Amino acid sequence: METLILNGSPRMKGDTASLLELLRKLLPGEITEVRAYSQKISPCVDCRYCWAHAGCCQQDDWLLVDEALRRCDSVVLASPIYFSELTGPLLSVLSRLQQYYCARAFRGEGLPFPPKRGGLILTGGGDGSPRRAQETGETLLRQMGCREIFPTILCHHTNTTPAIREPGVEKRLQALADFLKR
Ligand SMILES: Cc1cc2nc3c(=O)[nH]c(=O)nc-3n(C[C@H](O)[C@H](O)[C@H](O)COP(=O)(O)O)c2cc1C
Repeated sequence: METLILNGSPRMKGDTASLLELLRKLLPGEITEVRAYSQKISPCVDCRYCWAHAGCCQQDDWLLVDEALRRCDSVVLASPIYFSELTGPLLSVLSRLQQYYCARAFRGEGLPFPPKRGGLILTGGGDGSPRRAQETGETLLRQMGCREIFPTILCHHTNTTPAIREPGVEKRLQALADFLKR
């Protein structure tokens, strides 16, 4: 079993990181983690190369994500909520998924990787609604071939309670791990 984790937090020891640290202990098999704030991955610039060709005209660390997507059975998207959305760098990295959309829309091809299970982990101080971040996360997971998505694990009180101390979160992470390894 292999899992790709896409981490949208800039904080190495923050709320999202603490949840992912526990999830890593619960998941069997290989885990590849891509950190949106560290990886050198340029955003899609809508150059339209992929309207006619496989791949992307930008050669950078996206290749790591592409290779992991071709191998993995599951994807976990984990991000703090910034202004009710996933963080900008995570959205920037995942704009590169456009090449797979174009393969289907303009070249009549299918997704170049197998169907997967998906998980979404969101952390937030407690302002506003998490709904928009949740919808975006689910859209992106579907773009990565996730046909089944586990109900979002949301820790939305981090201004007062660290995510890892949110009541019931360990149980929820265990349930996510069980779902992903089914
Ligand atoms: C620029 C910025 C925007 C934020 N916007 C929101 C928001 O809209 N809703 C919310 O609940 N928390 C918001 N937060 C708080 C973070 O989501 C919160 O601190 C989170 O726990 C950080 O996770 P991390 O430690 O994994 O990076 C924002 C924080 C920053 C820095």
